[in-house]
Amino acid sequence: MKKILTGLQPTGTITLGNYIGAIKQMVNNQDKYNSYLFIADMHAITVKQDPKTLHQNIKNLLAIYLACGIDPQKNTIFIQSENEYHANISWFLECNTSFGVLTRMTQFKDKSKKNEKFTSGLLTYPVLMAADILTYDVDYVPVGIDQKQHVELARDIAINFNKVYGETFKIPKPLITETGTKIMDLVNPTKKMSKSSENQNGVIRILDSEKEIRNKIMKATTDSDNQIKFDVENKPGISNLINIYSALTQLTIKEVEQKFLNSSYAEFKKATADLVVNELTSIQEKYQQLINSKQLNEILDNGIKIARKEAKTKYELMKTKIGLGR
Ligand code: TYM
Repeated sequence: MKKILTGLQPTGTITLGNYIGAIKQMVNNQDKYNSYLFIADMHAITVKQDPKTLHQNIKNLLAIYLACGIDPQKNTIFIQSENEYHANISWFLECNTSFGVLTRMTQFKDKSKKNEKFTSGLLTYPVLMAADILTYDVDYVPVGIDQKQHVELARDIAINFNKVYGETFKIPKPLITETGTKIMDLVNPTKKMSKSSENQNGVIRILDSEKEIRNKIMKATTDSDNQIKFDVENKPGISNLINIYSALTQLTIKEVEQKFLNSSYAEFKKATADLVVNELTSIQEKYQQLINSKQLNEILDNGIKIARKEAKTKYELMKTKIGLGR
């Protein structure tokens, strides 16, 4: 069986973008692939975090995974920092990755510009991500389009390592769906919907109340030509809502356009809000049941056992190939 793996950062409540770009893809594929899903807590500390909040967010994210429909019987679920081999493997890979390539990563350029005191972890972040992926010899990595460049870097790192030291890693591919790969901000639809957005009216979070969700969607920025047509360039707001609608119903873009051919923007927005509310309220109900359950620890105990065993094998193989140790 082919393998898929992905991770999300436990920084604040995840957005509708995270849900559609990553989690929903994992849910949709969990019967088809041997699935690995982890909590990327070590990536979270590349920027400053409050320890108490971070700790709470890790547990919350696990409950969110399950509430979204991730089946612990079908997924190996674990916390990145509990598998110490990731950081070790990342170091081996760092020593085989050029500094210049890392400085050219789009996300690094954006984030380092925003904070001149950025950490060196922000620069090496994609190598840790490559370690997360390459450790498990995965075939596909379900992500949103913003992480595509990092998955491609993981590919290049694997190809290069195999060339230098002999066959060590499987070459992974990003798994990106046709719609929903980049959900945009509702207020400024030319920008990605992001947890850290300045205006939270543009961001739907998975635990937002029904009222908040409806308000944000009804007030979403659109244009004035009153045609429900997918045209990212000229109609980014409406195109974003079409994307959301399509991702949550599995209808194609064309089918969504057809369905709302004679509708007004207000009608289409209301239908989209109904859809999002429906999807998220059922997740929220399950989340409330799960958040204090003992099951969470058991799932993590099982997951880390499997993950650590596989990672140890890869770590030992790399050590031997590189010529480390006695
Ligand atoms: P993170 O936590 O920033 O985002 C988690 C996932 O959500 C996707 N995503 C989006 N998809 C669609 N529309 C959006 N607006 C949107 N915003 C975010 C991201 O593409 C991602 O798939 N470095 C990663 C976590 C990570 C990882 C890994 C992922 C660490 N190691 C190994 C895959 C494999 C990150 O920070 O994602």
